[in-house]
Order: sequence, then structure tokens, then C-alpha cells
Amino acid sequence: MRRKFGVTMTAAAALMTSAFVANAGEVEVLHWWTSGGEAAALNVLKDDLEKQGVGWQDMPVAGGGGTQAMTVLRARVTAGNAPTAVQFLGFDITDWAKEGALANLNEIAAEENWDEVVPKALQKFSKYDGKWVAAPVNVHSTNWVWANKAVLDELGIAQPTTWDELIAAMDKVKGAGKVALAHGGQAWQDTTIFDAVVMSTGGPDFFKKAFIDLDPEALGSDTMKEAFDRMSVLRGYVDDNFSGRDWNLATAMVINGDAAFQFMGDWAKGEFLNAGKKPGEDFLCFRFPGTQDQVTFNSDQFAMFKQGDTVSEDQAALAKAIMSPSFQIAFNTVKGSVPARTDVSDEEFDACGKKGMADLAAANASGNLIGSMAHGHANPAAVKNAIYDVVTAHFNGEYDSETAVSELVTAVEIAQ
Ligand code: GAL
Repeated sequence: MRRKFGVTMTAAAALMTSAFVANAGEVEVLHWWTSGGEAAALNVLKDDLEKQGVGWQDMPVAGGGGTQAMTVLRARVTAGNAPTAVQFLGFDITDWAKEGALANLNEIAAEENWDEVVPKALQKFSKYDGKWVAAPVNVHSTNWVWANKAVLDELGIAQPTTWDELIAAMDKVKGAGKVALAHGGQAWQDTTIFDAVVMSTGGPDFFKKAFIDLDPEALGSDTMKEAFDRMSVLRGYVDDNFSGRDWNLATAMVINGDAAFQFMGDWAKGEFLNAGKKPGEDFLCFRFPGTQDQVTFNSDQFAMFKQGDTVSEDQAALAKAIMSPSFQIAFNTVKGSVPARTDVSDEEFDACGKKGMADLAAANASGNLIGSMAHGHANPAAVKNAIYDVVTAHFNGEYDSETAVSELVTAVEIAQ
């Protein structure tokens, strides 16, 4: 039943493997990195561990953003069979730490000086109650645009810097008979775009009020209605087959020149690189128009499930490997993300990676580094999922913008 790297596994199939227990000398890692670029990055980690004599039992659960992985995890833990290590986003770490399920990594963190080198915005999630409970492997952000350079050049389109320029550019692409916006109609993908659209429409203070403070006034405001109106506009640029499409297949449309743009986190870059494409030559990366100064971040972190009183040697090896500076470079140059440490040079990163690192530092210094709502860094999963439902219902035409705004206020209130 157990499958190898890069092969997707449905939640149901994954559950059927739940009798598995990691043996001494290996770690079992539950994750959702099943696309080509993601699997290539994961191989960097797997190889690193294997060199140290630590075996890898792969537990992939397909589904971008990790929603399905979290469902499988809950079932595994309920069955008394937690995996050794688990990929997590933001508030999910806190939720499991509150349940007392995660191993204390303080000893390793102290030895390796994590307090000094991990950005504080990440530590908020890596630590619970003064204890390190997760090791951050990267920093991604959601407010990126990915574009096929040849398509833009052919149509004489300059990189758009405002909402109006973006719409004019997409009109040109559509007019030329190509798909303007490559998108996969899945709730988490719709909401990834919503992250950027709300930031662009309302600015950082509005974004924080709405999605971090969950202020009902901001959630129910005219600005939020305008953001929904913009989502309706974007809906006009996707192709007829967008529904249910996986994010990496949408990226492939841009890679192949079938579409001009994708609005997606920088894990998309992993797909371009995996296809042998070069930033600046084959594809462009730039911030979603109107969010040039902001970084809506999410960080993938690995937490170790308690196996006994202390962290096992294999778990410790995994945590150390993740945080090593050379690994952070090797991994993040493939994954599309940037290092989760402040003391790593950008030398080996490509142009998009260098920009990502510079943007992160600048946003951190100017108070513009803000947790992604769509990727679990603004609120716990209950709230996030409630927002997903409204955004996706609106994107699919079930609600008009006015209804979406009032549904949003109600859904968030109920979910808290
Ligand atoms: C994000 C995660 C990324 C990438 C993406 C799509 O939530 O942080 O590492 O895996 O989902 O699967």
C-alpha cells in the first residue's frame, strides 16, 4: 500500500495504511508535497537524512494547502498511531501543541541557537508555551504573480503594477484567444487569490483588521465588498475547465504558454524550475499589483509527535537537518521558498529567490510581514475553513458580493 515519492495518495487510501509504525532508525513523515517541484524539494531532505543513516517512511497525502493531510493526521492520532513527524502550517501547530501532542524540541533549539536565527514572526508558531515544538523549513508567501514571458512579449504586455494595468493586460491576453488566468477551482486556491486581492484592495491595516483581528466591521465593509467584486472580475479570465484543477496543473498552463498568468504562492516557482525554466528568461515573478510592499507569508514547519518522554534520535536528526543553514539553502532553492533563518546568504538563490529574501526582510522591518489567511497564518483552521467556504461559493457564483460579505461576517462569528 505504501507509495513512493511524488505519487499522490487519497485521504481514504492513506487511512488504510494507518497500521504503519516507524521503526527505530527511521522517521515517518506525513506531508502534502506531491507535485513535481514539491517532491524534488522533499528529496533534498530525504537524501540529507539518509546520509545520516536515518531512513524515511513517506506518508504523502495529496491536496495543496494541506487540508486533506490534516484530516488524515486527525484520524491517525485518533487511532493511536501518530506519524513521527508532520508538515504543518501556522495555527495548526498551535492547535496540536495545545493538545499536548507535540514533542519539546528545546534542547536541540538551545544547542543550535534557534532563538537567535529564526524570524520572530515564525517563532510565534514554532513555539508554544515557551517551548519549541516545530522546526521551520521555509518561508513562502502568497501574494505573487507568475507569468509566461514569451506570451507577454508577444502581446507587448509590460509587467502590470496596478489593478487596472493587470486587468488591461488580461484583456489583451483574452482578446488574443489565450487563457489570461490559469487557476484551479479549489477552495484553498480561490482563497489564496483572495489573500492578495484583499491586501491590494484594502491595504495592510484593513487586511489585519479583517483577517487577523476578525473585526466584524472590516469583514462586513464596502472595502470587503469591493474585494469580492474584484474576485468576480477575475472569474471572467479563467478557462472553462478550471473547476477542481490542481494548482500545479494551472502552473503547467503558464509554463507551456497556454496561459499568461497565475496568482499563487512561490511554491509555483518549484514547478517552473522542475520544468527547466529560468526566471527572467522564461517566466516572471512579481508581487500581486497593489501589494508590492507586503508579504503575506506562510511557513512550512515540521513538528514531532511525542513518542515517549524525550525526542527520539531520529526525530532530533530530522529537526537538526531542517534547521541547518546549508540544508535551508539546498532545500529552498528547489522549493521556491526562502530560508526560515535570518543568517543565510542569498548568493545561491535565483532572481525570484533573491527578491523573495529582500522582500521578506523589508516587509519585516516595515511592519508589512503579515500572516497569510489562506495558508493558516492568520487564524485557526476553523475560521480559515469558514472563510474558504464563503470565498469559494462566491467565486462559483452561488453568492453575489453583497451576500458574500454578510455570509463572511456570519461564518467567521460562528467559527470562533
Ligand atoms: C502551501 C505550502 C507549500 C505548498 C503549497 C501547495 O500551504 O506551504 O509548501 O506545498 O501549500 O501544496
